[in-house]
Amino acid sequence: MLRALAQPTIDHRGPAFAALGREVLEGLQRVFRTSGPVVIYPSSGTGAWEAALVNTLSPGDTVLMFEVGQFAVLWRDMAVGLGLNVEFVATDWRHGVDPDVVHTILVDDRDRKIKAVAVVHNETSTGVTTNMAEVRRAMMAANHPALLLVDAISSLASIDYRHDDWGVDVTVSGSQKGLMLPPGLGFNAISDKALAAADSARLPKSYWAWEPMIRNNKSGFFPYTPATNLLYGLREVLEMLLDEGLPRVFARHARFGEATRRAVRAWDLEIQAANPEEYSNSVTTVVVPQPHDADRLRQTILERFDMSLGMGLGKLKGRTFRIGHLGDLNDLMLAGTLCGVEMGLSICRVPHNRGGVGAALAYLSAVGD
Ligand SMILES: Cc1ncc(COP(=O)(O)O)c(C=O)c1O
Repeated sequence: MLRALAQPTIDHRGPAFAALGREVLEGLQRVFRTSGPVVIYPSSGTGAWEAALVNTLSPGDTVLMFEVGQFAVLWRDMAVGLGLNVEFVATDWRHGVDPDVVHTILVDDRDRKIKAVAVVHNETSTGVTTNMAEVRRAMMAANHPALLLVDAISSLASIDYRHDDWGVDVTVSGSQKGLMLPPGLGFNAISDKALAAADSARLPKSYWAWEPMIRNNKSGFFPYTPATNLLYGLREVLEMLLDEGLPRVFARHARFGEATRRAVRAWDLEIQAANPEEYSNSVTTVVVPQPHDADRLRQTILERFDMSLGMGLGKLKGRTFRIGHLGDLNDLMLAGTLCGVEMGLSICRVPHNRGGVGAALAYLSAVGD
């Protein structure tokens, strides 16, 4: 993939580019599991969040959002900044979105003020995955017409995701997680209903507007300069993922997630996610017992072993660290990661039981990939 990125940049208005454009746009549809359009922005995931909101909504529209963690907070802040009215449901940052709460709020919304329900599928700060099929079912049971907007930035290509089957209207994602690419591509997968909403959505937009994107994409082109070299890499990773087969990709992540959680439990540390049915298979957030500082532990592990762990985000800063287990990872890479954590816990004298690595290795050797 890195070699693919290093190819010479071609003319993005020329015929060779059109073939590349068509290939990656079609491959992405298979990964998002949609027959509708997927647009690609030269942006981070935050840009794709903005695109989802500005293309579907109008100033003052109400959006229902859930405070499942720091990324949900940031998306809420963006929605407020854009002039939307956000109904923000608090959670304890240890659970995903409760479909019963979605149902109750939508049933109570008799005037149909809520125009969209926006959910972070896999909350990267907490390591909690919401059951999206259940959220959609709750919306249908309430017979509510709101759009469903989903952030799949840290779930796409790591955890089962189905844009069409789950009736998602806009799926937001990015290149730097399950797609294993450098940062720099943002995606929106778009339903027919979202396209229809875009016709009357009045939030200001220009760079993020879907219409010129989709029109140009039909012939494999983009309305402005695309991130051509990242698209070379995208073509490569799509081929890798589709050759392996998405069910196998998800099973690989589930196995790494389970091995990691077994290590954490054997250390006798707490997993931030409270409900085993919502454990994330792309990231595990680990609680460091107070008064120990998770950032000091991370810094020690970085200095001693040159290994970078995810920091605690938002209100979890200093209290948690995160072990990413997504993308291009194999058994020994995960084992090395867990060894680094176990040694770091000892060096920093964080109270724990030894044997986390052993528990993970026992699982990895007993359960083949
Ligand atoms: C779930 C989730 N949403 C949104 C974002 C923001 O994406 P970006 O940093 O690419 O703008 C991230 C980044 O890690 C994320 O994990």
